[in-house]
Amino acid sequence: MATTKTQPAAKKTATRKTPAKKDAAKDLSDLFEDSLKDIYWAEKALVKALPKMMKNATNEKLKTAIEKHLSETETHVTRLEQCFEALGKKAQAKKCDAMQGLLDEGNSIIEETEPGSVRDAGIIAAAQKVEHYEIATYGTLAAYAKILQESEALKHLLKTLEEERKCDELLTSLADINLNSKAAEA
Ligand SMILES: [Fe+2]
Ligand SMILES: [Fe+2]
Repeated sequence: MATTKTQPAAKKTATRKTPAKKDAAKDLSDLFEDSLKDIYWAEKALVKALPKMMKNATNEKLKTAIEKHLSETETHVTRLEQCFEALGKKAQAKKCDAMQGLLDEGNSIIEETEPGSVRDAGIIAAAQKVEHYEIATYGTLAAYAKILQESEALKHLLKTLEEERKCDELLTSLADINLNSKAAEA
């Protein structure tokens, strides 16, 4: 006799909607503010993390690029404070688990590579993952600001987005130079 397969209980549960927390965002303004708190934490964490990356890099151009982006990142923190101010809100940071994960991974890459071009390649990869996360975040925040007609915040977010993109492009070119020189050695 043919038996009909029943769906496992776990699968059924996974398709159910997750209940919202008590302090869950109710509208786009709430979500915008929450996301600003997240990236504010992330940028502050980067200000602390970038000096270690810079110290562990060997290539002078890479060191300079990280140093430049450290000073830009400090400006990103300030711009976010200006965004909160424009919204009439207090600047508040909320732990960003994604950035914490990316920074942990960056630390592991440093520990797991010998100093020199291999570690440099790892640092570039870790830094680019961070930049891509930031580009995605600022792109989304700018879209929210546009919809919410928060023009002052939008102006700051677009400036930062542009700097994140430029940094990512610079890292791509440094990665090419680094990998090509490594290939030439082989
Ligand atoms: Fe940034
Ligand atoms: Fe960045």
